[in-house]
Amino acid sequence: MAKKTLKAHTRVMKGLRPGESVRVLISDARLQVRLKQLAKEIRRDFPNEPLHLIGVLKGSVFFLTDLARDLGGEVSFDFLSVSSYGQGTDSTGEVKLIKDLDVSIEGRTVIVVEDILDTGLTLKYLLRFFEEKKPKDVRVVVLLDKVERRIADVRADYVGFEIPNEFVVGYGLDFDERYRNLPDVCTLQFAPKGKSKSA
Ligand code: IMP
Repeated sequence: MAKKTLKAHTRVMKGLRPGESVRVLISDARLQVRLKQLAKEIRRDFPNEPLHLIGVLKGSVFFLTDLARDLGGEVSFDFLSVSSYGQGTDSTGEVKLIKDLDVSIEGRTVIVVEDILDTGLTLKYLLRFFEEKKPKDVRVVVLLDKVERRIADVRADYVGFEIPNEFVVGYGLDFDERYRNLPDVCTLQFAPKGKSKSA
C-alpha cells in the first residue's frame, strides 16, 4: 500500500470528559478497508492453514474480531493480557503477564494480534514467551505502528498503518480504560489546565 502521511481532523464527539478532545486520525471506514487488505496478505502467506489468532487484551479486541471475519478459512482464537502501561500515556517499560493463554500453541500457526506497536517492549516480551511454547510458526499483525517510538529491536510482519508519535484512542485503544468504544482511531488532546470546557 502506498504510504500517506496521516493527519487528524476534528470531529465533534459526545461523552468526552471536560478538558479532553479527540480528532479522527483513521476513520472506521478506512480501518475496514485496510483490514480486508491485511487479511488478504495473511491468507496469501497461509492459504490453507488453520490460523490461531492470539489477541493481546484489551486493545486488540475489535481488531481481532473484525480481522477474524475477514480472514475466512479455519481460524481459532485465544487471548492473553499483559500490563506495560499504568494509568497515563507513558510506558513503565516493565511487562507483566496478567492472563495466560487458555490452550497450548504447540505445533500451531500463531498470528499475534496487537493494537499498537510503540516502544516494542511488549512485543519483545511476547515473542520470547511464545517461542518457548514451540509453535509451528509465529507471525505478528499490528493495526498501528508508531515507528518513531521504537526502543526494542522488533518488527511486525503485517502493519495496518504507520502513525505519528501521538497518543491515540478508539477502536479498542484506551486512555485510563476510556474511549475504547470510539469507532475511529483518534488522537487525544488535553486542554491546558484551567481552560477546560464541558464537552
Ligand atoms: P509498547 O510495549 O510500548 O510497544 O506498547 C504496547 C502497548 O502500549 C499497546 O498494546 C497499548 O496497549 C499501549 N499503547 C501504546 N501506545 C498507545 C497509544 O497511543 N494509545 C493507547 N495505548 C497505547
